[in-house]
Amino acid sequence: MGNATRLARLLALAMGVLGAGIVFTGIGEAQDRVGLKSLRGDLGLEDTNPPPGLTRQETPADGMFSRAYRQQPPLIPHRIEGYQISKDYNQCMTCHDWPAHLKAGAPKVSETHYSDREGNRLDKISGTRFFCTACHVPQADAKPLVTNTFQNATEVK
Ligand code: HEC
Ligand code: HEC
Repeated sequence: MGNATRLARLLALAMGVLGAGIVFTGIGEAQDRVGLKSLRGDLGLEDTNPPPGLTRQETPADGMFSRAYRQQPPLIPHRIEGYQISKDYNQCMTCHDWPAHLKAGAPKVSETHYSDREGNRLDKISGTRFFCTACHVPQADAKPLVTNTFQNATEVK
């Protein structure tokens, strides 16, 4: 390879790096403008965040997230890592089925969860409600990364 070609390649590489730098600075500025924050907060790179709680979601003082509107599937106030839901087994129901819920001290699934789509009342959880996490999600008391003006059903009244 001739010296001239090598120089040209080096130059192109340097411009590439410079260019990328400019693009990244641009993104940083845009993030500042919309108020975006990194998940690690204001901690420096050398510092370590405190670990999240092991057994519970971070819930409000009364222990539950209230529903934003009446028909909302309630948010799960506990962690669900490791709770298996497969075709044949639903670990959630070991605590939320009737009458197992009494011993577990957990709320029973809603009565609606024991009706099939034709309205027949069943003894077991309905197939339409089997995959709990299609509707119920755990939530941490996380501050929104981007500010928004969402109001729940009681606030807009
Ligand atoms: C070991 C027992 C146990 C298991 C397993 C369990 N839960 Fe719970 N769940 C509870 C208890 C106890 C509560 C009551 C709130 C609390 O103390 O955290 C609760 C509360 C809830 C609530 C809130 C109900 C309301 O009215 O606000 C939902 C939704 C829920 N669980 C869904 C699930 C789902 C989905 C799974 C499976 C992925 C699951 N749970 C597995 C014990 C359990
Ligand atoms: C298709 C969506 C959907 C699925 C799937 C679903 N749920 Fe629900 N769940 C809801 C809705 C909506 C409500 C609140 C309205 C109601 O009572 O039907 C609710 C209510 C609940 C409640 C509160 C009951 C009460 O009386 O306050 C619990 C506990 C619960 N669900 C657990 C579960 C579990 C465990 C599963 C999985 C076996 C599950 N749900 C599957 C939508 C769903």
